[in-house]
Amino acid sequence: MKVIIAKDYEEMSRKAASILAAQVALKPDSVLGLATGSSPIGLYKNLVRWHKEEGLDFSAISTVNLDEYVGLPKEHDQSYRYFMNDNLFAHVNIDPANVNFPDAMAEDVEKACEEYNAVLESFGGADLQLLGLGHNGHIGFNEPADDFCKKVHVTELTDSTIDANKRFFASREEVPTRAVTMGIGNIMKAKKIVVVVSGADKAAILKASICGPVTPAVPASILQFHPDVTFVVDEAAASEL
Ligand code: GLP
Repeated sequence: MKVIIAKDYEEMSRKAASILAAQVALKPDSVLGLATGSSPIGLYKNLVRWHKEEGLDFSAISTVNLDEYVGLPKEHDQSYRYFMNDNLFAHVNIDPANVNFPDAMAEDVEKACEEYNAVLESFGGADLQLLGLGHNGHIGFNEPADDFCKKVHVTELTDSTIDANKRFFASREEVPTRAVTMGIGNIMKAKKIVVVVSGADKAAILKASICGPVTPAVPASILQFHPDVTFVVDEAAASEL
């Protein structure tokens, strides 16, 4: 495991974006696993800038997103599909046919999970998976649990996750209580993993994830077993390491 400590959010975003840009430049038909949340927004801004100013080419890139809220249509401004369009896809030359999401609006959401799992398996794992870190140690929407869940599944969001995400909604009641997420097994199949973590409020969970025991009570701790994982964090997040 590598830990890169950046001065602040901007530097973290630039450094992490360079890893993704190198992946895109060196293997133009890469499969990128992408994440939402506030942590990767600055990273996506850099990728958009490098596309516009330097021609970073996404035309042969495929993407698989980590998760999606159950019951939010893709036009909803808090759906993760909307987030990705807004922050990246609409601003680079990615082929919409190569963008993959779980169908969390499906009537049979369990079947939609199986179908998305099959899509992920057809790629044999992402070339590079980008992750954020939840305050309770979640990655994607794999919440603390008794076991690591391997495949794509529906998850009940914990109160702490609903509280953390309510800032994006008009009220707490509007935050969906369920989501479809890649499982830990899907994430761990990625050849390379990059995790972006920012802010003093993540310092304790970052320490638990990197230095603590590997346990499904801290889902991100499983990353200690991955052969190629890089944490790109700012000084505030690193303050307890
Ligand atoms: C969200 C997402 C995760 C994200 C995490 C951290 O709920 N499902 O993929 O990494 O929580 O979000 P943030 O970066 O806003 O702290």
